[in-house]
Order: sequence, then C-alpha cells, then structure tokens
Amino acid sequence: MDFELKTLTRARICSEKTDALLVLVPQDTGAGSDPLSALTALAIKSGDFEAKPGKLLAAYRAPGIAATRLVLAGVGDASPKNIRTAVAAALGAVKNGNTQRVVLCLDLLDALQAEAVRAAVTACGDVTYVYTTTKSKASPSRLQRVLIAVGDAASAKAAKAGLDKGTALLKGVEFAKEWANRPSNHATPTLLAGAARELGKLRNIKVEVLGPKEVAKLGMGSFMAVAQGTAEPLRFIVLRYDGAAKTVAPVVLVGKGITFDTGGISIKPAAEMDEMKFDMCGAASVLGTFRALAELQPALNVVGLIPACENMPGGRAIKPGDVVTSMSGQTIEILNTDAEGRLVLCDALTYAERFKPRAVVDIATLTGACVIALGGVRSGMFSTDDALAGALAQAGESSMDLCWRMPLDDDYAEGLKTNFADVANVAGRAGGAITAAKFLQRFAASFPWAHLDIAGTAWKGGAAKGATGRPVPLLLDYLLGQVASSRPKAAAKPKASAKPKAAARTRA
Ligand code: BES
Ligand code: MN
Ligand code: ZN
Repeated sequence: MDFELKTLTRARICSEKTDALLVLVPQDTGAGSDPLSALTALAIKSGDFEAKPGKLLAAYRAPGIAATRLVLAGVGDASPKNIRTAVAAALGAVKNGNTQRVVLCLDLLDALQAEAVRAAVTACGDVTYVYTTTKSKASPSRLQRVLIAVGDAASAKAAKAGLDKGTALLKGVEFAKEWANRPSNHATPTLLAGAARELGKLRNIKVEVLGPKEVAKLGMGSFMAVAQGTAEPLRFIVLRYDGAAKTVAPVVLVGKGITFDTGGISIKPAAEMDEMKFDMCGAASVLGTFRALAELQPALNVVGLIPACENMPGGRAIKPGDVVTSMSGQTIEILNTDAEGRLVLCDALTYAERFKPRAVVDIATLTGACVIALGGVRSGMFSTDDALAGALAQAGESSMDLCWRMPLDDDYAEGLKTNFADVANVAGRAGGAITAAKFLQRFAASFPWAHLDIAGTAWKGGAAKGATGRPVPLLLDYLLGQVASSRPKAAAKPKASAKPKAAARTRA
C-alpha cells in the first residue's frame, strides 16, 4: 500500500476523483459552504451522524462530491487512539468493495501532530492486512493507494514526520505478522534465520547465524536441551543494526523463537495447540523492529538475539527432572519441559553480556499466567531498572502498544529452589508470570534488564486468529527515544584537560 500526503482545500477534496473519500470529523466542527462541509453539518443537525469515535455515515455518489463512496467518521477529540478507531471503522466500511484508491481527510483536525498521522497510517495497515503465504489462491487487499489530505502547510510538516514514522512502523509490524502467522513447517528455525538474512541486505544491518555446533561450543547447554527432542536443527540468530559510532553501547533485544511449542514430554493438551506456532512472536517482533530501523536509520546501535528451535517430545527429548548446565555455568533442573522459553532465553541473556549493553530487553510469549493476569490489552513488563521501566512504559503509551509493570520481589523466587540444581525451571502455579521473570533475572545481573511477557498480546485467537505485530510499536518508540542519549561520551564535550577514552561506552 502506498501513502501520499497533500495539502488540499475543501473545494479540492470535493472534486477529487477517487474510489472512496474518508473524512474524519472531530467534535465542534465549524460550518463551511462547500458541499462536504454542508453535508456534514446537515447530517449532524438531523441526528443521523455524531462526531463520536467509531460513528460512521456512508453515502454513494453524494451530490457535489466527485468520489464514488463517501464515509464520514466521527473522531471525537481526535486523540491518536480515536483516530485509530475512526480510520479502522471507515476503511473497514469500504475495503471489501471495489476500492483501490482512497482519500483520507485529516483537514478538519486542528494542530495536526505527527502522532495523529502515524495512528492513521498504522490503522490503514492493520485493517487491510491479509495473510496469503500458505493460501493457494491469494487475494490480497485491493486497496493500493491512500492519499492523506491535510488542511494547511503547518499541518503538512508534522504530517510528513508522522507519515515517515508510520510507514516504517507498518513495514516492521507487517514483517513481524508475516513470520508469526506462518505455520511452523513454513517457519522453521532455519527459515527464520533466512528471514533475518534477508534483513541483513538492508542498510546498516548485519546478520550472523549460529548452528548446533557453534552453540555447543559456546556452552549453551540450556538452549540445546530444549532443541534435542526434535530433528529440526536449532539456530541462534544475531542481528546488528549499526546506526551510531562503534563506541556507543547497544541496546540488545532478545526474542523467544520457539517455532512450535508442543510442551515436550510435559505435553500440552490438544485444544488450541496450533496456536503454539505463535511461540516465536518475540523473535518476530525483533525481526520486525529491525525492519523498521532499516527504514528510519536512527543514530543508535541495536543488537538482536534470537534463540530459535522447536519444543518437541521424542526419544532424545529432555525429561522432567533432568539437570542441564547453562552457558552462565548455573545448573538448571527441568521440572517441566513446557517451561522451555526461559531455558532458551537464559543462554541468550548470557550471550548478551559480550556486547556490554546499555540495556537488554527480552520479548517472549512466556507464560499462560500472564494472559490470565493482563489479558490481551497490556503486555507484562518486568525490570530491574526504574529508568528502563519508565522508558518502556512511556513508549507503550505513545505507541498505543501498552504494557504494565509487574513486581520482581525476591520472595517470588522461593519456589525455584531445588535440592538437585542451582535453580528449577518452574515454581508453583501461583504468580507464574512473575516466577518466570525471576528465573530470567538470575541471568541478567550484569546489565539494566527488562522482560516483556507478550503471551496475551502477540496474537489473537478465535475468528480473527492472527498475529498482532505487537510489541514492535513499543520497541520502536523505546529505541527512538534512546537516540538522544546514544551519543558517545567522547564526542559530547571533549575537555581540554582529560583525554576522552576512545573505547569508553556510554550507558543510560
Ligand atoms: N509458550 C508457552 C506460554 C503460553 C501459553 C503463551 C499459552 C500463550 C498461551 C510457554 O512455553 C509455556 O508453556 N509456559 C507454561 C509454563 C508452566 C509450565 C510453568 C505455561 O504458561 O503454562
Ligand atoms: Mn511451553
Ligand atoms: Zn513456549
């Protein structure tokens, strides 16, 4: 889908020949003499239309309007959230017809901000996205072009910034959705590594893929233990986005890449087990974030780490009670083979130490308990660092990809104690999302760390089954927020007396 931005007068909007004209109408809209403004005022006065978010009024070949279809969409106070709702509803009303080109009018919105346009662009992408990869007759959305109309030059400037960010984010979200939606036989660890390699062709992105031999050499005994029950070889994917000087410490993103989670010997029940193809949504969100970074080229360094494998039962699979040695040296008693996410993540967290990161954020569909705690609205967020937690919460708000901070009191780790290893991989059922985070925390002691449990937010079940692309919007806003503080200390203000250390790394 292509987006374009134009400053148009109301008269021009009325005479614009297009398949559909979508007009966002805020509360307290002033009157005008052109056909569109007159029609809108009349519809409100007659009670047939209200400028509340989600309210629609559709017309076909309306008098004085050159567009074939016209949809008025209420947008209330024109907050980004209301814009998202309004655009989704308006586009939803025309997308199944023969609509290829639409004009989206934001000209009535006062003091147009970049966030408003970004919300409109991403909403367009969300409603028109269709998964086609494993369908024999692909029928992608017919919608090809969206012209965003703004009212004046001042709005156009902000709109341009929002459009650039929005289209970059959309590419990232769609990349994440695509790989998350693919069934496990079309998204094996090897294929996932191939997707990463494709990203490696983009500017400032480098990709390295490790296989079983290299991973064994690194001593990732915990990751290897999960992968030993399947014939499908594991992959450890390392992505680098280098947008700043080498001296700038990177943010490391770690994505859980279980391409299918049967539970292993502690096998899951059959109902909805197909949804465990989504157990690599953390990995998909890391790939999607890199896709967006390639588009925006911000001045920062980011590393992406993806431990990817299947969790299967089998003759060689790990068994409850087995003890393995992680890369950190800590031994782990695997009491439940279905708690595999933390087993692959812990070794990736240890691997992250070599980058001397300013922060590490892991993203994982980690626990059913998090779905019970927070549902599908907010992702669970855990952090050992208040500044990092604050930045992530803020990024969640600004991108409308919400998260909620959860506790990490040491008392929650009591249940992970065992007589047979340094730590067990499960505690009791109580506080399951938190005890999982407490397990990970043991491997994240040497850097500011946060963990996002996206089990409830990464995909939707039921009739609308499919990946959401979350938390790519949150991660991107967080990273863009780091740009200002990512400048190397050495380059900031060189003091006459003290020699700046060339290799000094900056920290948040
Ligand atoms: N991938 C699952 C978590 C999950 C379950 C996400 C359902 C979304 C929906 C994870 O590997 C898992 O199985 N976790 C177990 C942990 C338990 C054995 C301590 C769980 O949540 O039941
Ligand atoms: Mn599991
Ligand atoms: Zn899992």
